[in-house]
Parts: sequence; structure tokens; C-alpha cells
Amino acid sequence: MHRLSSLALALGLAVFPVAALAGIPEPVTPPHQTWSFEGPFGQFDQKSLQRGFMVYDRVCSTCHGMKTLTYNDLRGIGMSEQAVLELAHSKMLAGPPDASGQPTMRAAQPDDHFRSPFPSDEAAAAMMGGVAPPDQSRLAVIQPHGADWLYAFLTGYRMPPPADAPVVPGKFYNDWVDGHLIGMPPPLMNGIIQYPDGTPATVEQQARDVTTFLVWASDPHRNARHRIGMWTVLYLVALLALAIAWKKKIWKRVKAQ
Ligand code: HEC
Repeated sequence: MHRLSSLALALGLAVFPVAALAGIPEPVTPPHQTWSFEGPFGQFDQKSLQRGFMVYDRVCSTCHGMKTLTYNDLRGIGMSEQAVLELAHSKMLAGPPDASGQPTMRAAQPDDHFRSPFPSDEAAAAMMGGVAPPDQSRLAVIQPHGADWLYAFLTGYRMPPPADAPVVPGKFYNDWVDGHLIGMPPPLMNGIIQYPDGTPATVEQQARDVTTFLVWASDPHRNARHRIGMWTVLYLVALLALAIAWKKKIWKRVKAQ
């Protein structure tokens, strides 16, 4: 974490003169959004998680892997066993070589890890103009202000870019990356997917949902932990009340003597 942030700082300083020359202010702290999972007792909004997985599955997963999750982990966002099975079976993974050593494919099983879109980081970088799309398993925690930044970033593309922005072929202008240029094309568009629950799929809504999903994915057991935490606090409060009642009772007797 520490190494990462100093690296980010070094990179930030390295690009600062360029951006400063272009007269564009560097990104500051992203605006704070309200999140269902915030605070010590926050719980993930399950509907938003399911919509967010849909955005990941339909959009982000064409370029980004998410190696730490298995299809079965999606039970944690309320997907039924049957839905998980169908989803896994719809994904093809590399299978063992056949008798003559030829590569084969097989359908994924629920306990397989999410399929990665590229066979290796090198292949990914070659396809994506030199920079591999990072694995999304821990995206939400490696950025300071993780969720707020992700939301700002996903809604922060500007097409066309501001007039004084540097133009680099294959790079896109975003308000929220250092130097303002990134190799990832804007992934979200209004109505690019349709939510089965009828929620209008605006860019902002998709960004909010996929961010919620990415935060969950980086810490899939947070809901359970927060629930345990809440019961622990309630238990301690009840014990405290009992202790106070006892103390009063005993002191009443002492004073009466
Ligand atoms: C067409 C391929 C493609 C799609 C689709 C895509 N990305 Fe990316 N993404 C990339 C590439 C390439 C990079 C690395 C770009 C770079 O560093 O210049 C990247 C980088 C990122 C970063 C890191 C940015 C940073 O500055 O650290 C985040 C966050 C991200 N993507 C999130 C997403 C999310 C969320 C989605 C789905 C809504 C998504 N991406 C869809 C290709 C893609």
C-alpha cells in the first residue's frame, strides 16, 4: 500500500509539469458520494451489486480479469445456485490438451475462477496499445478514495476533450487520471445495457453499480462481518446496562446500611 502510494506520487510528480504546462489543473480529491456500504454497519445494496455485476460481466470483463472471484462467490450477491450454474456454463475456459496434444475448451464450473479475457498480461498489453488492463479484484482498494474515485473516473471522460488538452492517438481524456490521458476508451454509455429490474441504465447509474460491485469484490465478506460487528456492539451495550443496574442495586443496599 505504502509502496503503491509513493509510486503513484512519483508518477503524479512526473506528469505534473506536462499537465501544468498545458494549463489543466491536476485531479484533486474526488467528490464524496453516498454509498450503502459506508460506515461500520454499512450493508451492500444487493440490487445494486447485481446490476454492478451485470456491468462488469457485459462491459468491463471484455478487457479486465478478476482472478480472485469464483462464480460461486456470486451467491454472496444473492444469485441463486441455478443462476450461478448457468452463468458458469456459459463461459468457456481452456481445458486440458486432448490425446494428440491439441488445446481444448471446456465450460466453466461454479468453483472456477472468473475467466480472464487475455491469456497473459503480455498478450493483453499487445492488444491494448501497450498497457494491460489491470485485474479488477482489488481495484477498489488500491486507489485512495477507492469508491469515490472509481465513480468520478468512470463518469469523468470528456468527449470531445477540452480545447487545451494534449491530443495523443489511442489515449482518451479523463478528468480523474494523472496527466488526464488514459489508454482505456470510455466504457460506459447511456443504455449500453438494459437492467432487468427496470432501473434506467444511465452512465451515472452504471458507474455507481459497478463501483459497488468492485468494492464488494475486493472484500466479499464485509456484510457478514458488519452484521457480526453490530450484534457484538448490541451485546456489549446490553452487558453494560446490566452492569449499571447491578451497581445501582448493590450501592442502594450499601447506602441503606
Ligand atoms: C476496451 C477495453 C476496456 C474495457 C471495456 C474496460 N477497460 Fe478499464 N482499462 C483498460 C486499459 C487498457 C487500462 C489501462 C489503461 C492505462 O493505464 O492507460 C484500463 C484501466 C482501468 C482502470 C485503472 C485506471 C488507473 O488510472 O489506475 C480502471 C479503474 C478501470 N480500467 C476500470 C474499468 C471498469 C470499471 C470497466 C467497466 C465499466 C472497464 N475498465 C472497462 C481497458 C478497458
